[in-house]
Amino acid sequence: MSLLRLDRVSMQFGRTRVLQDVSLRVEAGECHAIIGPNGAGKSTLFHLISGLLTPASGRIEFAGEPIHGLPSEQIARRGIARSFQISQLFPRLSVAENLRCALLWPMGYGCSLRHLLGREKALNARVDALLEALGLQALREVPAGELAYAAQRALELGLAIAGDARLILLDEPVAGMSHSEAAAALALIRRVTAERALLLVEHDMSVVFELADRITVLAQGEVIATDTPARIRANPRVQEVYLGSTVAAEAGGPRDA
Ligand SMILES: Nc1ncnc2c1ncn2[C@@H]1O[C@H](COP(=O)(O)OP(=O)(O)OP(=O)(O)O)[C@@H](O)[C@H]1O
Ligand SMILES: [Mg+2]
Repeated sequence: MSLLRLDRVSMQFGRTRVLQDVSLRVEAGECHAIIGPNGAGKSTLFHLISGLLTPASGRIEFAGEPIHGLPSEQIARRGIARSFQISQLFPRLSVAENLRCALLWPMGYGCSLRHLLGREKALNARVDALLEALGLQALREVPAGELAYAAQRALELGLAIAGDARLILLDEPVAGMSHSEAAAALALIRRVTAERALLLVEHDMSVVFELADRITVLAQGEVIATDTPARIRANPRVQEVYLGSTVAAEAGGPRDA
């Protein structure tokens, strides 16, 4: 059984069709990338999977159960996390406090103070472990709003993995980073998502070809191929609609070296 399964999912905004009969499977532990031109519908697909939007038609199953139409908090609780936008960090809380909130949140609001106090030690240990995994120990007391861009993105990734999600959705995780920041972010993503499935949208083909086990190509709202990186690279249709220009420009060498 696939961890995530989309069957003929379609979406439209008003009369504009944005996704047409998209079928996709993500296996447990797999890194699956979604690539395609601007406006192909990649972010919309993420909004549908994470429950920000409801598909016009089609089915989305996670771990064998339908999730389309569920509110986003319920989908998150079932084990799908997406990287938060920067505005969703608590900017005045420190890095450690942000992680603490992310760890407490899955316990629910019904969690009593006594229960919380009993778990204080375990909670602190998990915050420490996350800080170490993210390489943010030195910044633990810094308010999230004062972090540099790459550190903010690392903290967002930390919030996404704090809740033990089985599937992480990352939409353009290295956008806006320099070559060296992107390389560090890539190593971090690989490390902290090692045991989980990752669904990744990214325009930087060097990142995609390095991380992905399989790639799905979307163009104008339709899946035109799902395959291994090597076969995607060699696919004439994919080259025609997307890779022709991008691979030559990006996958061949560093961007700003
Ligand atoms: N809320 C909305 N209302 C109307 N149209 C929308 C809305 N959100 C997205 N669209 C349109 O849907 C299409 C797909 O957008 P989407 O953001 O999913 O593309 P994308 O593949 O993520 O593109 P990019 O690579 O530029 O991020 C675009 O034509 C976009 O203009
Ligand atoms: Mg997008």
